[in-house]
Amino acid sequence: MNERVEQALNDQIEKEASSSQFYLAMASWAEGQGLNGTAQFLYSHSDEERFHMLKLVKFVNERGGTAKIPGLQSPPESFSSMSNVFNLLLEHELDVTQSINNLVDICLQVKDYTTHNFIQWYVSEQLEEEALARTIVDKINMIGQDKAGLYLLDRDLENSAIQPSVVNTAGTGA
Ligand code: FEO
Repeated sequence: MNERVEQALNDQIEKEASSSQFYLAMASWAEGQGLNGTAQFLYSHSDEERFHMLKLVKFVNERGGTAKIPGLQSPPESFSSMSNVFNLLLEHELDVTQSINNLVDICLQVKDYTTHNFIQWYVSEQLEEEALARTIVDKINMIGQDKAGLYLLDRDLENSAIQPSVVNTAGTGA
């Protein structure tokens, strides 16, 4: 496996692992606030990010590279509000998208079309995750400080919790 691609894939493993821990910290905070729907949504989101990480680990190893399992910085323990949580989440997803785009760029530069093909799954996934995060931030902005609105949003989030993908971490499958 090309060294630059391997490095970029390992960087991405670290990003997905960090995302998982970050959202886990948000979920735990939300649970402590009695925001059970939000907590459930974020716990599922954390699981989904772990799945993204695992899929990369398997791919790197299957292609003859060496996946590196990273040590991670501790995520924050508390957040100031739902708005704070979801603005951070959106910001984080935008950063992940940038890093996926960077990976696509490197694949094209070194003509690694197999990894390029594999990464397309992440490109679509980012589109969905960004759109979802934006929708939630928009709703929170609309609700403002209205407690009844926040209660309903929390309930809605419980219903829209991401169903963690059936784990098929084998290389190119989704
Ligand atoms: Fe796997 Fe939400 O980035």
